[in-house]
Amino acid sequence: MQHQKVLVLDFGGQYNQLIARRVRDLGVYSDLKPCDMTAEEIVKYAPVGIIFTGGPNSVYDKNAPHIDKTVLSLGIPVLGICYGAQLIAHTLGGKVVHAETSEYGRREFTVMAESPLFAGIPKTSVCWMSHTDRVADLPEGFEVLASTPSCPVTAYGSAERNIYGVQFHPEVAHTEYGSKLLENFLYRVCGAKGDWTMKNFVEEQVAKLREKIGDKKVLCAMSGGVDSAVAATLVHRAVGKNLTCVFVDHGLHRKNEPEEVVSVFRDGLKMNLIKADAAEEFLTRLEGVTDPEKKRKIIGEQFIRVFEREAKKIGKVDFLVQGTIYPDVIESGKGKSAVIKSHHNVGGLPSVVDFEEIVEPLRDLFKDEVRKVGTELGLADSVVWRQPCPGPALAIRIMGEVTREKLETLRDADFIFRDEIAKAGLERDIWQYFAVITDSKTVGVQGDFRTYENVIALRAVTSVDAMTADWARIPFDVLEKVSTRITNEVKHANRIVYDITSKPPATIEWE
Ligand code: XMP
Repeated sequence: MQHQKVLVLDFGGQYNQLIARRVRDLGVYSDLKPCDMTAEEIVKYAPVGIIFTGGPNSVYDKNAPHIDKTVLSLGIPVLGICYGAQLIAHTLGGKVVHAETSEYGRREFTVMAESPLFAGIPKTSVCWMSHTDRVADLPEGFEVLASTPSCPVTAYGSAERNIYGVQFHPEVAHTEYGSKLLENFLYRVCGAKGDWTMKNFVEEQVAKLREKIGDKKVLCAMSGGVDSAVAATLVHRAVGKNLTCVFVDHGLHRKNEPEEVVSVFRDGLKMNLIKADAAEEFLTRLEGVTDPEKKRKIIGEQFIRVFEREAKKIGKVDFLVQGTIYPDVIESGKGKSAVIKSHHNVGGLPSVVDFEEIVEPLRDLFKDEVRKVGTELGLADSVVWRQPCPGPALAIRIMGEVTREKLETLRDADFIFRDEIAKAGLERDIWQYFAVITDSKTVGVQGDFRTYENVIALRAVTSVDAMTADWARIPFDVLEKVSTRITNEVKHANRIVYDITSKPPATIEWE
C-alpha cells in the first residue's frame, strides 16, 4: 500500500505545519521534514513533489538555511513559498533584494502569464503576504507569473523545469485561491493521483500496527478525550484483545463521562477496558487544598500512582500507546506548554510502566484529522467531537477547595450549558464551553426567600489551537436559557455570569 508523498521542507516559517495538512486535505500524503535533508535522502524518500516553506531568514543572512543545488535538478517538481521562493531564485542565479518596507497582510495580485499553477484562478485576487525580501531578477528560463504593484515578482516559474515560486502564502485562509493553487501544484504540476484518504490512513495504520505488535501486549491510558480514544480504537482494530485500556476514574470528570467511556469502549467496541475507581483517593488527597498548582500536581501524581497500580496487575507489556498528535510534537519540540502537555500526554507514565516501546499512531495528524480518523473508525460524534478537557478536569473549574457538594453543583450546571449549546447547534463553532464554580457567594431571592449561594461562571471560547482564544459570542437567548435552567434546576447556584475575556490576557481555564 504505497501512496504518493509530497515532501514539505521546513525552513522555519510560522505556517509550515499548515502546508503539509493542506496538501493532505487535497488528497495527497504529506510530511514536514527538516530543510537540511540531502538530495540523496530526498531521492530515497521518493516524493512526487517538494514544497519549500517560508522562513524568518534572508537568503543573505550568515546562518540562513540553504539547499543543495542538486535538489533542484532531480526532476521532482518544486514549489517555493515566500523564503522558499527567494531561496530557489537565489540558488539558481537570480537576485533577491531587501525591500525598504515589509509587506504584511492582504494584497491584490494580478496573474501575468498562463501557467498550470494559476489554472482556474481569476486574473486578480487577494493573497496574504508577510515578507521583507523579494525576488528582483529571475534565473534564466523562468518567467514572471503574477505581480502586485510593490512586488513585481509575486509568482514565477518554469513549466519546463516544473519549478515554481510564490511570494505569498497559499496555505493560509486569507489567500482567496490558495487552496486552488496548491491543488494545481499537486495535480497539474506533480501529476498526483490523489490517493490519500482517511480510509487509506486507517487501513495503512492498522496494517502497520498489526505487523509491529503482532500478538504482543499493548497498554493504553485512556482519558476519555478524543486523541486517546481514537488512538486506542485504531490499535484495537489492529490487535483486538491484545490491547488493554486503563481508564482512571478520578471522580473529577464531567457528568456521565465515565459511564460513556465504559459504554462506548467496553460495551460497544468490546475493548478490554479496565476502569479504575479512584474517586475516593483523589478527593481525599484534595481535601483542604486551594492552590491551583498544588491541585494540578496532586492530581497528576495520583493519576500516575493509580495507573502504576493497574499496570502492575497486568504485568509486563510490550507497547504503551499514546495519543500524541502533531501539535504536541511541535510544542514539545519547542519546549512550550510542558506542564499542560505532560498530563495531557500522560507524560509521566513511561517511567512507571514496564514496557518496551511507545506507539503513537496519530503523531502526524492535526486535531481535525484525528476527528476524521475517529469518524472513519465508526466512533460516534459524541466521542469524536468531544471538546478538549484538561487532565485535572473539574478540579480546576472549582475555585478553591474541591468538595463533593461543589462537584455536584458544577457537574449539573456544566451539563445544562452543554445541553443548551448542543440544542442551539453551536457545538462545532465553539472550541470549548464549560461552567466554573467561583469561590464567591451572593445574595439572591428565590420563591420569596433570601438565598446565599454560589456564583456560576460560564466560559466559552473560539480558538484554533488553544494558544490564543476569543470569548464566544453566544446569542443572548441561548445564554438566557442556560441561566434560567441552572438557577432553577441546580442546587446551590443563584447567579450566573458570562466570562468575556480573551486569551491573552486570561487563560481558557480559570485555574
Ligand atoms: P489554558 O487554560 O492554559 O488552556 O488557556 C489551554 C488549553 O489546554 C487545556 N488545559 C489542559 N489540558 N492538562 C490538559 O490536558 C492540563 O493540565 C490542562 N490545563 C489546561 C485547556 O482546557 C485548554 O484547552
